Amino acid sequence: MNKITIISGSHREGSESLKISRVMKEKLEAHSNCDNVEIIDLAEVKLPFWSESYTADEKEVIDKVAKQLESSDGFVVVSPEWHGMVTSALKNLFLLFTSKQFAHKPGLIVSVSASVGGSYPINELRTSSYKNSRLCYLPEHLIVRHAGTIFNGKDDDDKKTEAYIGKRALACAGMLLAYSDALRTAREMMPDMSDFPNGM
Ligand SMILES: Cc1cc2nc3c(=O)[nH]c(=O)nc-3n(C[C@H](O)[C@H](O)[C@H](O)COP(=O)(O)O)c2cc1C
Repeated sequence: MNKITIISGSHREGSESLKISRVMKEKLEAHSNCDNVEIIDLAEVKLPFWSESYTADEKEVIDKVAKQLESSDGFVVVSPEWHGMVTSALKNLFLLFTSKQFAHKPGLIVSVSASVGGSYPINELRTSSYKNSRLCYLPEHLIVRHAGTIFNGKDDDDKKTEAYIGKRALACAGMLLAYSDALRTAREMMPDMSDFPNGM
């Protein structure tokens, strides 16, 4: 069985990223080897910016999220494309939490664009968020374009695109869970890396 955490990277209230995160939750729950899916919505969970020290209230939020991530077997990282980048909230999350939470666990990247964008967040996350966290991004990812036109439950939604993205999302969810099952064994077999806490 697998416990998956979906990180919705938009810090905009009522974001398309949160909507797509809910779709991913449904697709994960459709698989028999997944019994627990939680969404961390970075618009709702107000993580402080990384700092040398935190207030008691800030520490409480950080500790709660750390516990959630640590207890997860795998992750879906949902990122909007904002000016060709992932959000500062998402980058901040990868400063606050690292290998203790993410090492040798699979991550599926899902990017969300209101138009034809969405490729830059994939590239950015694959380049810059795994080195010290040792999060293992899948060789597959999902790009949700024209996100406003699908999964709204409305008659004038683009049903053809919705069906295609829905089918692909289900397959991506299955792939994440397959890696999650396999990487549990890999984690048990890892060499001692305490001399090398960070990647090169
Ligand atoms: C500050 C900002 C910058 C944006 N830049 C881009 C962009 O570079 N490319 C793009 O495809 N969409 C861009 N968008 C639109 C997003 O794709 C759109 O808001 C989409 O719904 C995903 O973001 P959300 O999850 O916050 O809703 C931008 C939106 C904001 C708020």
